Amino acid sequence: MTEPPKKVQQTEGGFTAAYRNAAAAGSAQVSDSKSGLSIDHRMTFRDPSMPLRERIAARIASSVQGIDNPSCIDVACSTGTDLGLLARALGDKPAQLHGVDLMEATLQVAREKLPAASFVQGDVVALPYPDVHFDSVQTSRLLVHVPDLKKAIDEMIRVLKPRGTCVISEGEMEKASVMLSNDDRLLRVSEALRDHVAKMCANPRAASEAYRYILSHADAQDVCIEPFSFFLKKPGDMMGPELTHERQFLAKLVSEGALSQADADHYIAQATGRSAEEGNLLQLFFMAEISFRKK
Ligand SMILES: C[S@@+](CC[C@H](N)C(=O)[O-])C[C@H]1O[C@@H](n2cnc3c(N)ncnc32)[C@H](O)[C@@H]1O
Repeated sequence: MTEPPKKVQQTEGGFTAAYRNAAAAGSAQVSDSKSGLSIDHRMTFRDPSMPLRERIAARIASSVQGIDNPSCIDVACSTGTDLGLLARALGDKPAQLHGVDLMEATLQVAREKLPAASFVQGDVVALPYPDVHFDSVQTSRLLVHVPDLKKAIDEMIRVLKPRGTCVISEGEMEKASVMLSNDDRLLRVSEALRDHVAKMCANPRAASEAYRYILSHADAQDVCIEPFSFFLKKPGDMMGPELTHERQFLAKLVSEGALSQADADHYIAQATGRSAEEGNLLQLFFMAEISFRKK
């Protein structure tokens, strides 16, 4: 008999509180004692989901092609990466680019990158813009952190003009990654890490919940969901070979008794050693791209 899928308990996310605390302190240092994570959101890292970001930029650029001087916003724009890609996808087409984020400290970097764009500090559940204002709205990796996902989607639809395009990209955190390894101990630690991260999210099932909500939304049409996946050959290939974030999460799991120190040490040793080079920590990641137009 196959085991039923494990249910990760949804919490008022550790990460959600951490974003609010960082924003209130005027900082981009998102620290969270509940998860054990401390991370500066102005850091750069090698993002294997760049092809998805480029795909979304191309989708938005194509949706506003026939509009004179369109107005486009990225909600939770952080340091402006996705708006930069949109500017590139638009080429020499004039457009008004806007970004909004809870953390003012990240917007300072975005303004340096894109001086012609406009960046405003704000909350997705109370966007500081009038109704029917934008020709496109996009957001990436936000809804997992917003307890009131429906309110956030309603707000993004509120500021969108009729026939405007909205694109949302999110992970389904409980199922966001699978490790392909023949080492059962590594598999166990990898699952513990994934479950721990999912538990820290206000909406671990943001992708499927957002899709269902939008499908039933009276103001949404042409709703579409498309997958995006990528392989990570070894954990250090994304956030850095020193595995800073993994070490923080592992320390937390060990302190809580969810993992033994020996298991955590084994994972770090394998992830930084030959085992990783030999492909024994190959991970497959999934994300969803949800797009629709406002009626
Ligand atoms: C994981 S980062 C994603 C950043 C960027 N969209 C990306 O895909 O790389 C989450 C971002 O959401 C922002 N954020 C969190 N809660 C928010 C809220 N309620 N309203 C607006 N932004 C929020 C954070 O400040 C942070 O910049």
